[in-house]
Amino acid sequence: MKALTTYIENHKNRFIDELVELLKIPSVSADSAYNQDVLNTAEFVKKSLEKAGCELVELCETPGYPIIYAEKIIDPNLPTVLVYGHYDVQPADPIELWTSPPFEPVIKKTEIHPEGAIFARGACDDKGQMYMHIKALEYMISTGNLPCNVKFMIEGEEEVGSESLSWFVPRNKEKLANDVILISDTGMIANDIPSITTGLRGLSYVEVEVTGPNRDLHSGLYGGAVANPINILTKIIASLHDENNHITVPGFYDNVVDLSKEERAEMAKAPFDIENYKKSIDIGDVYGEKGYSTNERNSIRPTLDVNGIWGGYMGEGAKTVIASKAYAKISMRLVPNQDWRDITKLFKNHFEGIAPKSVSVKVTPHHGGQGYVTPIDTIPYKAASNAYKTTFGKTPIPQRSGGSIPIVALFEQELKSKTILMGFGLDSDAIHSPDEHFGIWNYLKGIETIPHFYKNFTELSK
Ligand code: BES
Ligand code: MN
Ligand code: MN
Repeated sequence: MKALTTYIENHKNRFIDELVELLKIPSVSADSAYNQDVLNTAEFVKKSLEKAGCELVELCETPGYPIIYAEKIIDPNLPTVLVYGHYDVQPADPIELWTSPPFEPVIKKTEIHPEGAIFARGACDDKGQMYMHIKALEYMISTGNLPCNVKFMIEGEEEVGSESLSWFVPRNKEKLANDVILISDTGMIANDIPSITTGLRGLSYVEVEVTGPNRDLHSGLYGGAVANPINILTKIIASLHDENNHITVPGFYDNVVDLSKEERAEMAKAPFDIENYKKSIDIGDVYGEKGYSTNERNSIRPTLDVNGIWGGYMGEGAKTVIASKAYAKISMRLVPNQDWRDITKLFKNHFEGIAPKSVSVKVTPHHGGQGYVTPIDTIPYKAASNAYKTTFGKTPIPQRSGGSIPIVALFEQELKSKTILMGFGLDSDAIHSPDEHFGIWNYLKGIETIPHFYKNFTELSK
């Protein structure tokens, strides 16, 4: 497809400018202060799909933020690709750690991105990657290269648990009917080591509250005689892992499927430099569950992590106090076959069960979702693999990721279709962190690779 590379070359400045405009809108779904911005972003996405040449574009109201649905049906006898992405982004804080403001995109060169990268919240996760699909569609429609039918479903609540999408999908099964779901919301190993994500972890996210005395107390008058909720909370948290870093919640591992020796050996073949890994995040050594490699720990093994902890006096100087309450946010990454609702119950029972009588504890589930694994001997995988082979000149490596896109398991359950995860981000792109960015090279490579997937998938499906 020579015309494709020429098209991208001719239009790349506009492609970048349009993404910059999209990134300027702070669509933070977690914070209601950005409510109007999230809605404006939905409008932006809607207009972009109209401009790209979709015949039907709808802003579908939900109990939460709208879902943008669009389609271009060229022939009901041809296969249909359903593209999913999200237009919401993570909160930008801690804002003071950004080198440039999170919603004022700038292009800067980095060691890994010598062609430049766009720095902005959502650049990689997921506005940049979602927008690649709209630009690939623009190319296919405007040049008469769309080989099959296409549907888009872009949501605005992914970063807060996709509640409205879970409501929308079962109610719109016919509308969303497809032969494969295509998502770019993951990463790859490196720009010269393409990979396709074949697994995602599930998630159970809870908040815990430990209450001691009915008010904050003088730590001299009462200290030593009453339970300090912060001491108790940290003690309980410390007990959730044993000396081998196994999680101690009874039943936690019951449904975990162990990989075979062969599968683990295959996994170990993926290029990985532990010294670079340590250097990239400035740590003296890696840390984790005994008996597993770093790449296994962060993909095929479940975890339990405290994501936030607070309570007591956090102002300037010292205050001698025993706080009445202590809190933590805890997330568990799960592997396929662990049911997130079961795990949430196990955690709740265990946490509430081991707390001493001197405090009361409350565990509130936030959200969760199932993990996902996909086989590689399928038409969609082959179509994707061959697409990368064409544009990267290398066969991509299948790789299970540690991240979660809970909606993928729901798609399979409700729509009975497989998802193919063609991610073009890098771990170093700092998604969810200050200075998130997305390589210009990656952005354009994504736009170039996607049309090949459509073509291969259509041909292989015949
Ligand atoms: N795009 C990410 C997930 C991801 C990133 C998967 C990189 C694999 C590689 C997604 O937006 C995300 O952040 N998901 C959340 C879960 C969600 C329920 C809030 C996550 O993984 O923490
Ligand atoms: Mn994402
Ligand atoms: Mn995310």
